[in-house]
Parts: sequence; C-alpha cells; structure tokens
Amino acid sequence: MNLEPAVKYSHTLLSPIIVQGDTVVDATVGNGNDTLFLASRVGSAGHVLGFDVQQPALDRTATQLTLTGMTRQVQLIHDGHEHLDQYLEPQQQITAAIFNLGYLPGSNKRIITHGETTVSALRICLTHLRRGGIIALVVYYGHPGGEQEKETVLQAVKQLDQQQYSVLQYGFINQIHQPPFLLAVQKR
Ligand SMILES: C[S@@+](CC[C@H](N)C(=O)[O-])C[C@H]1O[C@@H](n2cnc3c(N)ncnc32)[C@H](O)[C@@H]1O
Repeated sequence: MNLEPAVKYSHTLLSPIIVQGDTVVDATVGNGNDTLFLASRVGSAGHVLGFDVQQPALDRTATQLTLTGMTRQVQLIHDGHEHLDQYLEPQQQITAAIFNLGYLPGSNKRIITHGETTVSALRICLTHLRRGGIIALVVYYGHPGGEQEKETVLQAVKQLDQQQYSVLQYGFINQIHQPPFLLAVQKR
C-alpha cells in the first residue's frame, strides 16, 4: 500500500462516512472529479450540491454525469460557494463537503479560490455538518494568491474548538513544487 496523494486521500476519508441518500457538497466542481465521486456515494436517492463560478466547467461536468447516469442526484449551481446558505434549508444537515482550492488546470489560471470566500463557505458547511461528518479541503498553493489563501484557511481551522471539531492536516513534506495538502475537519 502506497501513501496516497492528498486529493485521493480526501476520497478515502469520506468514502466510509457517506451513505446512500445523504446530502453532500462539492464546493469547487471544476472538471467534476469530486462531483462524480460524491454522486456515486450518495446514490440516486441522495443529493450533491455542486458549486462553481465557471459555467463551462459545470457544462463539462453535466456531460460526465449524463454519461455515467448520475444526473438525478446532482444539482449543479453556477454561483460562488460563499452563497451556499441560499441553497440549503436552515435545519438541513450535510454529511460531507469537498473543496479543491486554487485554479482549474487547463482553464483560466486567474480564476482562483480566495481565502475570505473559502472560509465563509467553510463556516456555512460547519453549521450544517452532522456529527461525524467531514469537510475536506485540498489546498493547492503554488500559484499567485495561493500562499495567502493557505494562510487564511489554516488560521481559520486551527482556531476551531477541539471540543467540537477534530482537524487533520495530511501531506508530503519532502516533495518539491509545493504539493497540495489536505485539511479535514470532523464534527465530534
Ligand atoms: C482546483 S479547481 C477544482 C477541481 C475539481 N474539484 C475537479 O475535480 O476538477 C477550483 C475550482 O474552483 C472554482 N471556484 C473559484 N472560486 C469559486 C467560488 N467562490 N465558488 C465556487 N467555485 C469557485 C474555479 O472556477 C475552479 O473550477
């Protein structure tokens, strides 16, 4: 067994806690890799809310969902994840959320996630997260603006009360080129 890269390990952590019929969030749909993973976990009775500010990315993901027969359980939303509370009922619980920070490879590198809006969305997710649920953030920070977002997000999660949340950091510390790392926040 090899140690998994951060992006893969986010799925490994979430897989066992998501059951068919759950509601989950993909905060950064991009090309839809996480959306497809989440859709397969929640099944046709579940619900994935997927956000992105780039319509072409959502369109590509919609095609993938059609090809894999998973359109039913996914709502693709052309809006910033910081507006997530407009799409969830106040008492609605989620089991998991995934954030892939940074820019979409092969797309406009200037369209990036930003620390303030990422933390706003994270806080909304935390208010809806059920006990035992996990929010995974894969932090890419090698691009302009990335270091700033990394620091903002790290500062926010480090301050979460340990009585209420467990916060994990996972990543390779001997690799060149600033490899992404994973932050996982579990509600206790
Ligand atoms: C690293 S990519 C996501 C990769 C994706 N998970 C995948 O599997 O391909 C980051 C994405 O976040 C999107 N994004 C940037 N700001 C956003 C925001 N405020 N709300 C939602 N998505 C945002 C970008 O358009 C981009 O597609």
